[in-house]
Amino acid sequence: MRRREFLKLGVVAGGTVLLGGTARFGILVAAPNEIPSVDRLVLTNLVDNVYDIFAKGGKIGNVTVTRSTLPFPYGSDAMLLSEHGLAYHLQSFRGDEEKQILLDFALTPRTLTNNYQGLRVDPSNADALIISHGHVDHYGGLLDVARSLQGRAKPGLTLYAGGRDTFCHRWVVQPDGKQLDYGELKRDQLETRGLKVALAEEPTVVAGHAITSGHIPRITDFEMSPPAARLEAGATGSACESTFHFPPGTVKIEAKPGDLVKDIFWGEHATAYNVKDRGLVVISSCGHAGIINSVRQIQKSTGIEKVHAVVGGWHLAPYPDEIIAKTVEALKEINPDYLIPMHCTGFRTMMAIEREMPQKLILPSTGTRVVFGG
Ligand SMILES: [Fe+2]
Ligand SMILES: [Fe+2]
Repeated sequence: MRRREFLKLGVVAGGTVLLGGTARFGILVAAPNEIPSVDRLVLTNLVDNVYDIFAKGGKIGNVTVTRSTLPFPYGSDAMLLSEHGLAYHLQSFRGDEEKQILLDFALTPRTLTNNYQGLRVDPSNADALIISHGHVDHYGGLLDVARSLQGRAKPGLTLYAGGRDTFCHRWVVQPDGKQLDYGELKRDQLETRGLKVALAEEPTVVAGHAITSGHIPRITDFEMSPPAARLEAGATGSACESTFHFPPGTVKIEAKPGDLVKDIFWGEHATAYNVKDRGLVVISSCGHAGIINSVRQIQKSTGIEKVHAVVGGWHLAPYPDEIIAKTVEALKEINPDYLIPMHCTGFRTMMAIEREMPQKLILPSTGTRVVFGG
């Protein structure tokens, strides 16, 4: 890997540990005893596309699922809001130590702020922030969070991004040629508001409890980045020049600044926890790298095979049935204890899981809290 970046990350991001040593592009393998474990993980689905108060909750096998019910959750005075977006609160415990991580930040500040209040999540307790990729339905509330944390954040609070392309301008080109602006997260605006930004291009331990995947190698032959997704090329030498987000030696794209090039989401990363006596909880956000690729990368980089749960957006909603079927088959092979398909996963995939592995399915809903571990 780039030695200078390795050192920079170690200095910038207090509490960060990169797994392994010298390999490039996130295919490091660390001994399982180097991977942190947690006794318990409380995962809150802060914002999601659906809000279903009748989704099954309670004790499901060895996890506890708490649903928000109307009118106000947990005695709060804020009604939860749903939108096309995703945000998580991740609270983990190891012995007496507790850590909190905010992963992704919904589409709108209004929804995110409202649901923080409704679910009694205080961003100033965060030990780290993670952004999965540079689409606005995942970073929409982040600038507001950074603003609200000025002077209140824990010292050195760091946002972990999976690559420089997180901060490039994103577009979606529709079949009729219409271009939809999918946003541009501006790194300097975050830093101006006091956040440190670290590029976790390799597998990285965050806040001593969580693990990020680093770049996710594409190893399946059926998963793909969304064909309509585009990245706006920046000036040569800038963070968004057209070639930088492709691994060197693989693809060379010539483009002028302002051109829209195919977006392969090189820097999208997944987050995971190693829950004691249960296994990995793998959390994807939009899954443009492929949910199977994501799980496999976490398994490989941690050296841990057992997957307790696969959570998140898997971006299968717009894809053909054949890809959904292959993904579900691959999930059966991985054999997690639980599957929690959120956000952009889509109804057909949920139905396929319900058909094939009904005992593993936990339905998503804004406000849901799942407790993994003892
Ligand atoms: Fe996305
Ligand atoms: Fe998304």
